[in-house]
Amino acid sequence: MTAATVEPTPRAARTLPRIPGRPILGHLASFRNDRVGMLLRLAKTHPDIVEMPMGLVRRVVVVSSPSLANEVLSTKQSAFVKAPGLAVFLRPVLGGGLLTSEHEVHERQRKLLAPAFAHKRIASYAATMAERAERFATTLREGEPLDLAEAMMRLTFEIVGKTLFDAEVVSDASAVGDALTTAMEVAMGQLGAVIPLPPMIPSPQNLKYKRAVARLDEVVYRIIRERRAEGGDRGDVLSMLLDARDEDGTAMTDRQVRDEAMTLFLAGHETTANALSWTFYLLARHPDARARMEAELDALGRVPSYEDLKQLPYTLAVFKEAMRLYPPAYVLGRRSVADATIGEHLVRKSSIVLVSILGIHRRSDLWPDPETFDPGRFLGDKEKQLPRCAYMPFGAGPRVCIGNHFALMEGHALLATIARRVRFEPTSAEPAELEPLVTLRPKGGLAMRAHVRT
Ligand code: HEM
Repeated sequence: MTAATVEPTPRAARTLPRIPGRPILGHLASFRNDRVGMLLRLAKTHPDIVEMPMGLVRRVVVVSSPSLANEVLSTKQSAFVKAPGLAVFLRPVLGGGLLTSEHEVHERQRKLLAPAFAHKRIASYAATMAERAERFATTLREGEPLDLAEAMMRLTFEIVGKTLFDAEVVSDASAVGDALTTAMEVAMGQLGAVIPLPPMIPSPQNLKYKRAVARLDEVVYRIIRERRAEGGDRGDVLSMLLDARDEDGTAMTDRQVRDEAMTLFLAGHETTANALSWTFYLLARHPDARARMEAELDALGRVPSYEDLKQLPYTLAVFKEAMRLYPPAYVLGRRSVADATIGEHLVRKSSIVLVSILGIHRRSDLWPDPETFDPGRFLGDKEKQLPRCAYMPFGAGPRVCIGNHFALMEGHALLATIARRVRFEPTSAEPAELEPLVTLRPKGGLAMRAHVRT
């Protein structure tokens, strides 16, 4: 789809409800300092759609209704592109890869990468996932303290490296983790800044960002170089990228391959790691749910294969419920490129539209007792009875997460394999704080102690 092909605005379209905010800055301070609180409050006070001025130039619209989210992301998506937060501030990291590209480039690259995420291919990754998770779990000693959030980042990074790029990257994990955190902090800081400085301006923050990107580049270019030198088709994503040809026979440049690889590396590990961290955190606070899950795992009695996962529905429900309460991608940003009618309201061209996944996941009309952790919500076919977009950790529409089945299987397999062997107890009784960067992370990591079960 090229530029917007949008229906003309019907006359009846109503102006958006608006929360005026402070002069000039509007709601920028809340956005910067209490993003999560702001989104949760809005889902209660304005459960459909609301405009909130932010700074001089930003008209921000927050959507907390599943049906309107569906319009923005699916049925009227041609009126929107990705918000500049991602496209501009994450560009040094992600370049023109799948997450940030638009229109024909996006369509072409999505088609190219789709086979790597086909059902059969994903099933073949299950053994690697379980094997790496088992290796991690069996190295833990009784009473060992660890930052579980960091451990999950390492593990999911290692898995994306091995499954999609057939590369061993575990020794790069901490450098990549640091670089990625820096990149996200700077990107989010810029998004909430009064006067955002684009990445090319050499401010101290941007220089730090540049160094972080150089570190990430080192890892990804090394992998590309090694593969080019070896040659041959290994049937993985990297081979697919290196072998891809345009209609006129041109191959992708190293830079294009790097952008796609970097995007998959980053999008493919950070989110799943956060989802798993929150899952273990919730299990530690809900011993009944944990006991039920452990009973399911013990009844299977082995490291689960792909086929075995079917026998672990409660474990999957635990993972899904954790992503309802703590969706790693808690808000999706779009910019309108034309006037659009969303519901019965007019969203004007050049608005920033934030689809509040977090707000939708905590609406009490969709989720009775929404703050309660209750995996039972995802047992049987209950999920199928939900309205469209009521549960959307992976987004919706043509930009829905390409890795959604990969991630669900990975979360399921890792949770089952690790929890069979170990239990984690937080070292502090204090609730974890949320750190809403590009993804929703536990602030300062998750200090846990391991208790060996088998
Ligand atoms: C629990 C784990 C994950 C969550 C919650 C998640 C969430 C999301 C969401 C919400 C989007 C849509 C963004 C938008 O519409 O603006 C997205 C896109 C994407 N995700 Fe994921 N993701 C996860 C795991 C993965 C994995 C494992 C991979 C790859 C191995 C991956 C690769 C991508 C890519 C490439 C896109 C861009 C797709 C496009 O625009 O066509 N994600 N993800």
